[in-house]
Amino acid sequence: MDQFIVSGGRPLRGRVRVSGSKNAALPILISTLLTDVPCVIDNVPDLRDIHTTLRLIEQLGKRVEWIGSTVRVRVARPLGTAAPYDLVKQMRASILVAGPLLARRRRARVALPGGCAIGLRPIDIHLAGFRRMGVGVSFSHGDVVLRTRRLRPADIRLRFPSVGATENLMMAAAGIPGTTVIRNAAREPEIVDLARFLESLGACVIGAGGAVVRVDGAARLGGARHSVIADRIETGTLLIACLAAGGNIRVEGAGGEHLRAVLDALARAGAKVREEDGGIRITAAGRPRPVSIRTRPYPGFPTDLQAPWMAAMSVGRGRSRIREEIFEKRFLHAAELGRMGAWIRTDGEIADLEGVPRLHGAPVMASDIRAGAALLVAAVAARGRSEIHRVYHIDRGYERVEVKLRALGVRIRRVNPEKSSARAQLPS
Ligand code: EPZ
Repeated sequence: MDQFIVSGGRPLRGRVRVSGSKNAALPILISTLLTDVPCVIDNVPDLRDIHTTLRLIEQLGKRVEWIGSTVRVRVARPLGTAAPYDLVKQMRASILVAGPLLARRRRARVALPGGCAIGLRPIDIHLAGFRRMGVGVSFSHGDVVLRTRRLRPADIRLRFPSVGATENLMMAAAGIPGTTVIRNAAREPEIVDLARFLESLGACVIGAGGAVVRVDGAARLGGARHSVIADRIETGTLLIACLAAGGNIRVEGAGGEHLRAVLDALARAGAKVREEDGGIRITAAGRPRPVSIRTRPYPGFPTDLQAPWMAAMSVGRGRSRIREEIFEKRFLHAAELGRMGAWIRTDGEIADLEGVPRLHGAPVMASDIRAGAALLVAAVAARGRSEIHRVYHIDRGYERVEVKLRALGVRIRRVNPEKSSARAQLPS
């Protein structure tokens, strides 16, 4: 398995362009199941989760052609109705196929996503919304089985602004005539990007980005070409890396309007942040000021940047507290940061940090996408050499991250010890 070898302790310098948003591209690619007309999606990041998503829609009847960052989707055969376990276990967002399949085939069988490193990841909010739309729910052999005689528009209130549930219900509603209202909807920018795509297919979506989303769908939708928004989480990760290691970088592609809470925290931590046309410039020097955060649904501080923020606060000039209010088990990176010299105590949803003057490089292991990103931030700031194991987690959410970090002056390389030892044993 690949590892990253990082020689840290130097300030970051340079400029880098972020990729398209993974969390916008996934629902948009899945929503092509709503139409038989060809679609073209641009600015799609080359990530493991995207590969999984494309395999999933191919299994469901699409033909996919991926050239550069453009994906062309067209019909290959009649739409299937089942998402198999071998794909769902790799990516819990596979549950998002339920909405389009219910709209078009009135049934869906999706392997239950199961838990993952950051928590149980239930789907009760998705199912409660589908029931409001006339869907019968049953469970069989580890699958959730969804059936309806006719999917009907409904007025739905989510008990929590779940991103995935909002997206699933928007897609279901877009594929049927009539008006569906989703209340207490998630407000993330990725929801707005999906809404724009659904509108380009022929649905009418009003209020995306707010707490009440209204979808007027249609039984037959057209095709469209759409460019995915830039990845705000990748942008935030790189900005936080500069806060932790110091330096002066420009991150291009994403505007500050989708990262207000993060830019505010960076400024409070002592960084100079400037929004320039088409990018964000950050300058930081010395140890960050300690800034406590709590993760909240958008527009609050994003849970996906909690782990990188913890890495930066590990070298803060004093005590800080992180409260993780979205997922129940999202502190797995704390122990790994401790191996690098961080002082962190966790108790339930709270992590208390005492910043140390310097982290030191060490062998560490990624446990999920953003925990892996935290280890990268820490390794860039730490003095000495770090080995980051299980980088496949990082590859799920960050496209060629080592290339981007090298562009910012970081000494990082990707190695695969098994391959190199196998090569070494080959006869010369
Ligand atoms: C999306 O996950 C993102 N994934 C996550 O990013 C992100 O952390 C999360 O939203 C929150 O912003 C994608 O977009 C592919 P939720 P999702 O439904 O939709 C609970 C990354 O690293 N919940 O908003 O799964 C759930 O357990 C990933 O890129 C229920 O209880 O998030 C969690 O505690 C990680 N029942 C909370 O709500 C449900 O039916 C937020 O989940 C659904 C969710």
